[in-house]
Amino acid sequence: MKVYDVQQPIFKYSIENWGEFKTKILEMIEPYRGKENIDTEVYRKMKLMQHTIPQNDDRIRKSYCGTDFDTDFFSNKKTSNSKINPLPLYAKPLLDDLRKYLNQWKKESTIDAEYHVTDLWFETCMRTQYHGLHDHGGKGVSCVLYVEMPDGAIPTQFRDEWDVDKWYTPDFKEGDLVIFPAWWKHRGGINDSDERRTIIGFNMHRRGLRTSKDATNESEFYYTSMTCHS
Ligand SMILES: [Fe+2]
Repeated sequence: MKVYDVQQPIFKYSIENWGEFKTKILEMIEPYRGKENIDTEVYRKMKLMQHTIPQNDDRIRKSYCGTDFDTDFFSNKKTSNSKINPLPLYAKPLLDDLRKYLNQWKKESTIDAEYHVTDLWFETCMRTQYHGLHDHGGKGVSCVLYVEMPDGAIPTQFRDEWDVDKWYTPDFKEGDLVIFPAWWKHRGGINDSDERRTIIGFNMHRRGLRTSKDATNESEFYYTSMTCHS
């Protein structure tokens, strides 16, 4: 027998002048907190689907993926094809600030391709809230910027796809930007703190490939945007 030791890399970049950057990001997302602008139809479908997904998770006892956290992921998501999935207004200034790290990643990952951001959102978990097992679709890469990480907060945990009871927990900290394959199943564990745990998430697809913007109907949009699996 021969075993091929093929690795799935996770790239991590620590943001310079993080204190200043953090203040700026928190100000940017503040108007988006709460779910006043939620697209209830997309949200309802997602909740419905997640309801049936069992979680093989020693920390998460409930059998739900968990969507009670605060996020603008569902906000302003139009369900007609032409206006699907616009980015929030803060995406451009935020991505301008992250560009040098993303360019560094492109160089260091040796993936010589143009990428575009297909969606971008924030997610805040208060005490007892979590984001259970999920992935970000079958193609492209996903990025997480850790904006508020209370002391002892556990960062994203990645599932071992050969032994699904095993989890890999990298030592990510506040101010880190991480990039990983979108299909890799992961979770955000329970926030055991009284403080907020906040991340910015975004997905990037190679230019020219099919994106959620190309979806011809709502469910297609949904599947190209974010999926949950057991
Ligand atoms: Fe995720």
